[in-house]
Amino acid sequence: MERVRRGFGSGSAMAAVVLLALVFIMVPEASATRFIVGGNKGWTTNVNYTIWAQGMHFYNGDWLFFVYDRNQQNILEVNKTDYEACNSDHPLHNWTTGAGRDVVPLNVTRRYYFLSGKGFCYSGMKLAIQVETPPPPPKAAPVVSEGSAPLAPVFRSQFVLPAIFAIGAVWDAFLRFC
Ligand SMILES: *[C@@H]1O[C@H](CO)[C@@H](O)[C@H](O)[C@H]1NC(C)=O
Ligand SMILES: *[C@@H]1O[C@H](CO)[C@@H](O)[C@H](O)[C@H]1NC(C)=O
Ligand SMILES: *[C@@H]1O[C@H](CO)[C@@H](O)[C@H](O)[C@H]1NC(C)=O
Ligand SMILES: *[C@@H]1O[C@H](CO)[C@@H](O)[C@H](O)[C@H]1NC(C)=O
Repeated sequence: MERVRRGFGSGSAMAAVVLLALVFIMVPEASATRFIVGGNKGWTTNVNYTIWAQGMHFYNGDWLFFVYDRNQQNILEVNKTDYEACNSDHPLHNWTTGAGRDVVPLNVTRRYYFLSGKGFCYSGMKLAIQVETPPPPPKAAPVVSEGSAPLAPVFRSQFVLPAIFAIGAVWDAFLRFC
């Protein structure tokens, strides 16, 4: 490893550090999803959100993205009773920021209930979802635990090292051009 680094010079060593940082940032995020509520219709009237959410899986760590007319709608999280009654008098959480684009992190494994206040709930602007525990990561991901030591060198040599070589070569070429 030391010999490899000296061969490439400090530029590629820096590139390798950047690449490793990217690998660690990107791996956990690859499994999180940001759902645009209602798809291209957004958060509005005349969408049945029960049907929209049918068959979809929401996992802990995902986000809901509400896109709506900020002059008319809002996003209130309520409990089951108030969801069923379209009661917005005591929301558990007011997710409305005023921009017409609000992100709700689904960071607890439980049922979530949302509705639009000001009467729009009665015309169907309500959403109930179950947030589930995320499925186990794919087998290719590096797993560090007792007895799995061979996995780490395999991961490094098959993926990270070739990537560092590739980036290092590009970086060296780039430096020669400057
Ligand atoms: C929801 O909140 C209302 C008002 O605070 C309360 O009366 C009701 O029992 C709650 N329902 C549930 C299921 O917690
Ligand atoms: C929710 O928060 C927004 C932004 O702070 C505010 O304008 C609005 O009145 C609140 N709505 C409710 C029902 O609390
Ligand atoms: C979930 O996210 C909300 C809003 O960002 C935050 O207030 C809350 O502490 C988080 N809960 C957990 C268990 O991380
Ligand atoms: C949405 O569709 C479901 C399933 O077909 C139905 O039970 C529900 O009444 C509909 N909701 C509205 C507000 O139309």
